[in-house]
Order: sequence, then structure tokens, then C-alpha cells
Amino acid sequence: MLCEVRSLGLSGLAGYEVRAECDLSGGLPAFEVVGLPDAAVKEARDRVRSAIKNCGFTFPVSRITVNLAPADRRKVGTVYDLPMLVGILAAGGQLRLDGPDSAFVGELSLSGSLRPVVGMLPMALAARRAGIRKLYVPAPSAAEATLAGEGLEVYPVEHVAQLVAHLKGAEPISPAPPWIPGEETAAAPDFADVKGQENVKRALEIAAAGGHNIAMVGPPGSGKSMLARRLPSILPDMSRREALEATEVWSVLGLTDAEHPLLTARPFRAPHHSISATGMAGGGNPLPRPGEISLAHNGVLFLDELPEFHKDVLEVLRQPLEEGWVTISRSAGSERFPARFMLVCAMNPCKCGWYGYGSRCRCSPRDVEKYLGKLSGPLLDRIDLYAEVPPLDFDELSRRPAAEPSSVIRARVEAARAVQAARFGPDGPSCNAHMGPAELAAYCALDADGQAVMKGAFQRMGLTARSYDRILRVARTIADLDGAADIGVEHLAEAVQYRESAYLRR
Ligand SMILES: Nc1ncnc2c1ncn2[C@@H]1O[C@H](COP(=O)(O)OP(=O)(O)O)[C@@H](O)[C@H]1O
Ligand SMILES: [Mg+2]
Repeated sequence: MLCEVRSLGLSGLAGYEVRAECDLSGGLPAFEVVGLPDAAVKEARDRVRSAIKNCGFTFPVSRITVNLAPADRRKVGTVYDLPMLVGILAAGGQLRLDGPDSAFVGELSLSGSLRPVVGMLPMALAARRAGIRKLYVPAPSAAEATLAGEGLEVYPVEHVAQLVAHLKGAEPISPAPPWIPGEETAAAPDFADVKGQENVKRALEIAAAGGHNIAMVGPPGSGKSMLARRLPSILPDMSRREALEATEVWSVLGLTDAEHPLLTARPFRAPHHSISATGMAGGGNPLPRPGEISLAHNGVLFLDELPEFHKDVLEVLRQPLEEGWVTISRSAGSERFPARFMLVCAMNPCKCGWYGYGSRCRCSPRDVEKYLGKLSGPLLDRIDLYAEVPPLDFDELSRRPAAEPSSVIRARVEAARAVQAARFGPDGPSCNAHMGPAELAAYCALDADGQAVMKGAFQRMGLTARSYDRILRVARTIADLDGAADIGVEHLAEAVQYRESAYLRR
């Protein structure tokens, strides 16, 4: 007897349909799995055998062959436990399937209860695309599966016995209701705690409003890390599309929360400077996994103490910073992961941290050169705003805090984002930082005065074409914060000033 059960697999971040063909035939009892299974899939045989016995069924005394089709794609993980069990029971006549448009995923315990699977969201999306109408999943993964949207009924299964009772019509399982995010109440650190530093806060506001990359440069203890950690409190919420994109990455790495499967707050990733290039960009064999830059997709990648990162780790940032995704090449083929993030960096101006702030600096000019020499020109070129973070003087520090709370800053950021959304429409870039040549031409025209400011900056700073465009994008954001239809000289001058920091000119 042959029985085919539909299931799903993962390749990189994408789900795809897998068919588990289960065949029982005469001959010596055996249990074979073919179709490029990895070790975890081969071990499924033991879990399936025990689960079948422990749920009161008979394990067929036959030659069992399970083919996971398409047989040329590598099958990893434990999601095929459930479809194999269902297929073997159905092939042996112990169970009947409920139609051709059902699919099954799930890891089994030896007792027959189901454990959650990673990558539920991309697999559920693939199920919808493949025309599957009913998806049977481990109960803890059900909420995440419902994020795939209407047209897919998700059945939460806790135990094989429960699934059998459902398929027999004895005790139907009700489909999981669509998951809806509740009110977020997580208290993030607030800008109200930061005294002074108005200039840096303004730069962070501009960065948040347009999605621009920003670097903060200043001596130790001046508040760079403190300021960066407050950035999430002024970032706009993600759109549904952005949230789903980010959640897919987290889901594949098994980082989603069963109770709260959809990421609603923008990711904020702050990897330590000892991270490897693979940890940053993604990779691994045989199937590459996304790295920090993809976990930061649609959010913030914060690199504290930038010059301390390994040089090769910083170099892998270049392509994603330009294109919004990263390509990982392996002998088995290449994978493309989304990686559109806002880069936020903090650094000291030299090894001891005090260069440019009086006589405390003990570094020789050569030490200073060497420290900053680790940062390549192309990387520095991709940073839109440089904000100097000077040490606070005693008067500012001893003042009672009366700083603006994040909610007020965030309202201005949201207003500027609304202007951008109206301008670009649903299919255009999501913010000014992602404007391409067409949008730059359409929305960033300069008048004669503006041209003159740009020309002056170009000559003084020896700008590249890339930094020219980056200045225009920042100027557009400053104009949007100002509610101005066109970029004015004052907007441009402010954008140029963030580019022209003393730090870069050295
Ligand atoms: N502007 C400020 N307002 C209030 N506290 C500050 C400010 N700047 C620094 N601090 C205090 O100093 C500590 C060290 O700041 P930190 O952000 O770690 O400095 P950096 O990263 O520049 O070395 C902060 O945790 C905070 O307590
Ligand atoms: Mg710090």
C-alpha cells in the first residue's frame, strides 16, 4: 500500500512543499527514509516507531520506505516526524486522511505528544501558496502559523491520539483563531533620562525619521551607549509587511515566542565586538543560517566600539548596507537573506578615548591613525550622519533632568514617516534612506542656492558620488521633519554639517 502525505520544508528562509510518500511492501521488515534526509530526519524512524506503539497502534511488520519528495533537496530537522507517522498509519489502513488539501508538520516525542517546530511562519506561507487548506501543526506553533493569513485553517495538535480522534470525526479539533497582537507595555529606556546632548538627540531623531545610518563619536562615559539604547523608543512601528518579514527570520532561528509570535517592535541587535563574520552575515553548512544583520532586518544594528570589531566582520556589512540583503555562497549553492537595517555605531576617537578633548589623550598621532585605520573608507562612506558626543560639563550634569520624553520625539518621527509613506506609496521605498535614483531625481531637486551649498561641500570634503546621494537623502528627511515640500538651503546645510564632522576630516 502506498500513501502520500503533504508536508513542508525549509530552505534558507523560504518554505516549500514536501511530499512524504510512504510505501509498505512485503519482504523483510525494515524502515528506510530516502530523499536526502539529514541525521535528524533519519532518527525520525525511532521516534515514529515508538510513538505509533505508545499510542496503541501496531507498527507494521513490513518493508517500509518513506521518500521525501522532491528528492533532490536536502531535508533537515524534525518536522517530518508527524507526516511520516500519518503516512505509515494510513498506508497500513489504520487511519484515513481527510482529503488532498491537508498537510502535517511536527516533531514527535516517544509518547506521541508534539513539540514545536522552527520556521513555522515561512512553512505556513508556503502551504498557502501550494493551495493547502488545512495545516496540522504542534499546538505551540499554531499561533505563529495563523500569521500566514486567511484561507489556511490551522489545527493545533497536542498529541497523536488527539489527531486520530479528529481524523476519525470522533472529537474534532477547532482551528486556531488568527493571532492578534495585544497592547505592548514593555518599558524601554527613555530619552528623558539623558541630560544635555541636544545635538546628538537631534541627529538620532533625523536618523530615526528617515532610516539613516548614524555614528556617534566621543570619549568614554559621554553617553554614547546610553543614547543608542534609547533609539528604539523613538522608532516608528513596523507595518504588517515589515513585521512579517522580520518574524520569518526570527522564526527560522527558533527565536519567536509561542505566545507572542509576531515581532511588532523593531528589532534592536547589539552583537559584541568579538562576533565572527559568519555570526554577523550568516552562514554555516550545509544549510546557511541568517546572522545578526538579518535578525536586525527592518530594525537597528548597533555596533558599540566600532573599531574593535574584526576587519572582515565590518567588510561583510558593505553589500547589505547598499542592497538590503546578503548573499551567502556555499558549495551547495547560494542563499539570499534579507538584511535591511539601520546601522548605528559608537566609537571613541582613539584607543585611549580622549583624542581631541584636552591633554588627557596619551595616543601618538600614529596610534590615532592606526586605531581609525581599521575602518575602511567604503564603510565610513555608508554612514549618513556623524554626531560628536562631547563629555558633559558639571553644570549640565548637575541640572535636574527636564529633557524631552521619547514619546514627544517619536510623534515627530511618526509625522515625518507619514509624509514619506504618502509620497512613496505602498510599493515605493519605506523611508527616505531607501530612495533610489528615480526618487532622488523626483523629490530631491535643489535650487541654485542649494546647488551652491553642495558644490562648496564637495570641494571642501572631496565627497564621493555615494556620499552626495546620502547627503540629499538626509536633507530630504530634515525637510520632512520641518514639514517643507522642497529641500531648502537650511535643510541641506544641516545635512552637510553632520557629514563634515571633524572626525571624518582627519
Ligand atoms: N547625558 C547624560 N545624561 C545622564 N547620564 C549620563 C549622560 N551621559 C552619560 N551618563 C551616565 O554615564 C554612564 C555611562 O555612559 P555610556 O553611555 O556608557 O558612555 P559611553 O558609551 O559613551 O562610554 C551612563 O550609564 C549614564 O549613567
Ligand atoms: Mg559605551
